[in-house]
Amino acid sequence: MIIRKAILTGGGRATRLRPITTTINKHLIPLANKPMIFHAIEKAVEAGVEEIFINTNPGETELQKHIGDGGHWGVKIKFYEQEGGPQGLAHVVKCAEKFIGDEPFMFYLSDNVLLGSLKPLFEKFYSNKTDCLLAFAKVQDPQRFGVPFFDANGKLIDVVEKPQTPPNDFAVTGLYLYGPKVFFKAFENIEKSARGEYEISSIHSYFLKNDFKVDYEKIDGWWKDTGQPSDLVEANKLILENMTEEEFKANGQTGDIVGKVHVGAGAIIGKNVKIIGPAIIGENCVLEDCVIGPCVTVGAGGIIKFAKIEHSIILNNCRIESDIKIKDSILGANVRIAQNQNYRRFVLGDHAHLEF
Ligand code: DAU
Repeated sequence: MIIRKAILTGGGRATRLRPITTTINKHLIPLANKPMIFHAIEKAVEAGVEEIFINTNPGETELQKHIGDGGHWGVKIKFYEQEGGPQGLAHVVKCAEKFIGDEPFMFYLSDNVLLGSLKPLFEKFYSNKTDCLLAFAKVQDPQRFGVPFFDANGKLIDVVEKPQTPPNDFAVTGLYLYGPKVFFKAFENIEKSARGEYEISSIHSYFLKNDFKVDYEKIDGWWKDTGQPSDLVEANKLILENMTEEEFKANGQTGDIVGKVHVGAGAIIGKNVKIIGPAIIGENCVLEDCVIGPCVTVGAGGIIKFAKIEHSIILNNCRIESDIKIKDSILGANVRIAQNQNYRRFVLGDHAHLEF
């Protein structure tokens, strides 16, 4: 039975990405000038998925407005509320039970960025006829993740969520494939964890302790969980670096442009501008006397003068008119940075972060 259905996450609290997530759903933060969740949808579509179910926090409608019904990607997309709000990843899946029925499915965390195709993982799942296929990746901080535990013979015996002393440096990535019905059987047998969540790792632990067939693949290519601001900047960089030349269009702009650079329609590249790729300048931006790049994305309507910006994500309609060097930064929509010869003056939202 092939996988036609996928559940993608769209809820959660995203407190670690404040203040950006105070006004925008985390999954709509742009990476390479495209909402993060669009990358996840494209991965699912490329692997052959036809129907996608996205959970939202109760009452939230922002994702629906941006994503629509999936027609744009040639698939069906349906939204559902995670009843009672965020209560863990296993609960996200449980709330979609009526949509999944007795089919196999993929569960994908939309805040995970994966380079490369998911097709080989789907193929492995089909040929080994397993109940569950997990993907592991090496990380420097496994205590932030679900971690696989192996016995002395290298056999996978357990998955533990955020262990204090991880026995190895593998993380379970946010890409999971499940056979028919097994997930919902396991859900009946798990309890909320100490932090009050139905953990996805508890499902996998249940599988492993009750002789379900769990298979795994180690992902060599690049994978990133975008839990923290620095992860976003890194994810933006890696997506940009991996985009093909054809995806960048200078739209007739010439001048001091080096490497892969996309300039959106209506953008004006004025005097003394240097753009170092990979970089994306959004539609209707105005640039003058500045250096942009590498690894910078500027949202539509941005005005940048006198600044040097590298490795950063700038959302729509920002106005930066200051002789300032910006690096490893994320600026939310409509941020304004102006020159002041005498002193620093701030109007900062809650949880803002500044370094001088
Ligand atoms: O990134 C991989 C890791 O993802 C795994 O190694 C862990 O085992 C797994 O538990 C998960 O850990 P995180 O702490 O990174 O999960 P987070 O709370 O960030 O949520 C992941 C996604 O799910 C994100 O898109 C937000 C969404 N979410 C989360 C919860 C808890 C919901 O939609 N509803 C929820 O109740």
